[in-house]
Amino acid sequence: MIQAPKGTYDVLPQDVERRRVLTGHAEHILGAAGYRRIETPSFESTELFARGVGEATDIVQKEMYSFDDGGGRSLTLRPEGTAPVCRAYIEHGMHKLPPPVKLWYLSSFFRAENPQKGRYRQFWQVGAEVIGSDSPETDAELIVLLAELLEAMGVKGTRLRIASLGQPETRGAYREELTAYLRAHEDELSDEVRARIDLNPMRAFDASDPGTKAVMAGAPLLLDRLASDDAEHFAQVRALLDTADVGYELDPTLVRGLDYYTRTVFEFTSDALGAQSGVGGGGRYDRLIEQLGGQSTPGIGWAAGLERILLAAPEQPVAADLVDLLVTVADRESREAHQAAFVIAHEARRAGLAAQLELTGRSLKSALKHADRIQARYVAIVNDGEQTSLKDMSSSEQKELATGAVIAAILRGHGL
Ligand code: HAM
Repeated sequence: MIQAPKGTYDVLPQDVERRRVLTGHAEHILGAAGYRRIETPSFESTELFARGVGEATDIVQKEMYSFDDGGGRSLTLRPEGTAPVCRAYIEHGMHKLPPPVKLWYLSSFFRAENPQKGRYRQFWQVGAEVIGSDSPETDAELIVLLAELLEAMGVKGTRLRIASLGQPETRGAYREELTAYLRAHEDELSDEVRARIDLNPMRAFDASDPGTKAVMAGAPLLLDRLASDDAEHFAQVRALLDTADVGYELDPTLVRGLDYYTRTVFEFTSDALGAQSGVGGGGRYDRLIEQLGGQSTPGIGWAAGLERILLAAPEQPVAADLVDLLVTVADRESREAHQAAFVIAHEARRAGLAAQLELTGRSLKSALKHADRIQARYVAIVNDGEQTSLKDMSSSEQKELATGAVIAAILRGHGL
């Protein structure tokens, strides 16, 4: 039997309602704040992600589905949405629009990761990007909007962590300082941390062995090394979050897996999730548009995993689909009856009713049973082309009507 590829899943009809609810909340919350929806292609030039996300990131190094397009060009299934949205911003000259340009998306993304609960190879993100404003209000507003979305979905046990990464130059100098600090304490570190000092000194903050932890308690922090305007920007973002009553924790060691970030970064986690606790996150990317060939333009955004939101949100009872009418025939051999039934179902839908035609040749008895199962309000039983019995399923009352009068009778019964 052929199965869905590892790390992918089918969205079955019974799964659609919760996704629709999420789409509705996103449309409502982001739409009201002036965001407009954008969708970009599922694949892009590999170079976009190499340049945008960063050559050295895990995503670019290990997780991209890249392929040759047959003409010697390398394409990649998009692993994230920020670089594509910035590419579209530049390509469509959106800098000519009144700034800031506020966009949102709900799209699928692809990463060749090891699948586990909440981690897939094809997954969905709802994301928002604001291009053309570097005000701290933009940062705070975006964070508040994600908090609202998670709240609207009923996501349980959320925590927000925030930090500022400053500018790449500050980060470079800090990295050297941290590396030198780790070297000076090499004897006290675990073998694993020691081996990675040059490769990724920040990882030392995540180590769990007591020796390394003791060293890291005294390690220099990037947050203490920010340039004064970056520190001021961050202080203002925090003050705005306080004003909006959005709780957060300062996490000076918050690292995000993408290279484009500058200044504010943030992440929402949920206790309701297992190891993959990140529900959504994002940050500022003030250099990205320029890096991709556009004019220097600040940007900031976030993305939240649809699967993780749904895992961390309670199941809601799903209302059964409404069926106004099931149309069937009394005599399965009668061609005229089938034709008339077809026309009734078609016209009923044109009149705005949810109408289904009996399509499997069921006997009248099992068609009525089926009508009960799908909770149809009426069943139209076409006797011949001319005459139709209309059965009200709640009262079991049945009326004989001219076939052409059936829809009007239902509409009257509906009080329409
Ligand atoms: P990210 O942190 O890589 O950021 O992904 C955002 C969210 O996508 C995660 O918090 C998680 O919920 C979900 N996610 C990521 N990978 C997977 C996976 N393999 N399976 C299921 N869910 C996953 C970004 O992608 C940035 N583009 C966010 C951003 C927008 N930054 C600025 N603007």
